[in-house]
Amino acid sequence: MDESRLFKPLKIGNIEVKQRVGMAAVSRCRADGDHVPTELMKQYYCQRASVPGTLLIAEANLVSKEQDELLNVPGLYSVQQTTAWKSIVDEVHTKASFIFAQLYTIGRAGYREVNDEKDFEFRGSSAIPWRADARTPNAMTPADIKETIRHFVRAAKNAMEAGFDGVEIHGANGYLIDTFIQDVSNQRDDEYGRSIENRSRFTFEVIKAVAHAIGVNRVGLRLSPWSTYQGMRMKDDDTISQYTDLIKKADKLGIAYIHLIESRIAGWDDVPENGRFDFAYSIFRRAILVSGGYTAELARKLVDEQHPDKDIAVMFGRYFTSNPDLVFKVQQNLEFTPFNEEDFIYSKSSKGYTDYPFSDEYLGSLNVLTQLLC
Ligand SMILES: Cc1cc2nc3c(=O)[nH]c(=O)nc-3n(C[C@H](O)[C@H](O)[C@H](O)COP(=O)(O)O)c2cc1C
Repeated sequence: MDESRLFKPLKIGNIEVKQRVGMAAVSRCRADGDHVPTELMKQYYCQRASVPGTLLIAEANLVSKEQDELLNVPGLYSVQQTTAWKSIVDEVHTKASFIFAQLYTIGRAGYREVNDEKDFEFRGSSAIPWRADARTPNAMTPADIKETIRHFVRAAKNAMEAGFDGVEIHGANGYLIDTFIQDVSNQRDDEYGRSIENRSRFTFEVIKAVAHAIGVNRVGLRLSPWSTYQGMRMKDDDTISQYTDLIKKADKLGIAYIHLIESRIAGWDDVPENGRFDFAYSIFRRAILVSGGYTAELARKLVDEQHPDKDIAVMFGRYFTSNPDLVFKVQQNLEFTPFNEEDFIYSKSSKGYTDYPFSDEYLGSLNVLTQLLC
């Protein structure tokens, strides 16, 4: 019997997960050219749902066609996308696991080629490129902001239609929402810029509108306060003040969880740790998901020794790509299969995606009634 709190149930909004080990959103770019999820994706998520009671956060989904600047990522703005997701969600639920859809708009981090080709307006919080050779976005007008919030609401409703257990609003990693939060990318002179409160406004309006549409218990928010990915990161003191304001608001609104990315990760690269989350742990009173650079040992340490009084779940990204039975491996202290960055998003095939084997120990643990069917 594993006594770690990692294997105690945890209530996250409307659901109760069986263990506090789950899968973080990892874009694998296997949707079709119209951003419709594929059968291959169904198999992938089904495999990763194989330990019952696991929470999966499905990779980032575009909330509108107007800003579909990344190829082969899924979306949740069309009927076809919603229907295709439904068959994946059903499969995950058949495995008695749970799945949230991550929702995002890319903002200034979009690819120049795709934008030019599709003739989309390139929008950001301010007219500041994420690096010197990147394209400068047009600063969003108040009307653009309202439209984008409507897009998030529509995508969240579609996610409900598809049967997802909830949605995670992607406020991390230098995508549109993050660029409203941080002063390095937000130099607006209106009610969405200039002050801490104003920089929290867009994110708060998004989570509030989505919570109103689908229920506050079905909404999570992902944040990466310390990350330098895609030209982000404020000064340390400013970071704490800014995110304290935002997390307090999220807490008061009553959303299901916040999901924090550790400072030792920039995007998906390991970097030296240079910021801590004690300030956030003391504010948010419901479930806190944490990810970034975790091993089984670090995960146990976090929930059992460092924060035994907090409702924390540890989410894994890269290791879930190469270990479909990762949750089982954490519980049994089995070695993880190494991941291969080459296969993350470039192969567009089942190679390095659905062909990672389950451990013999996991397969041996199945009885006739719970055969692996993915
Ligand atoms: C290929 C790849 C795609 C990713 N896509 C997303 C994404 O869609 N949304 C997101 O919030 N984070 C994304 N991430 C970041 C992961 O969720 C996670 O924060 C990161 O991999 C660090 O966690 P790890 O050390 O457990 O891998 C991605 C990471 C990788 C490797």
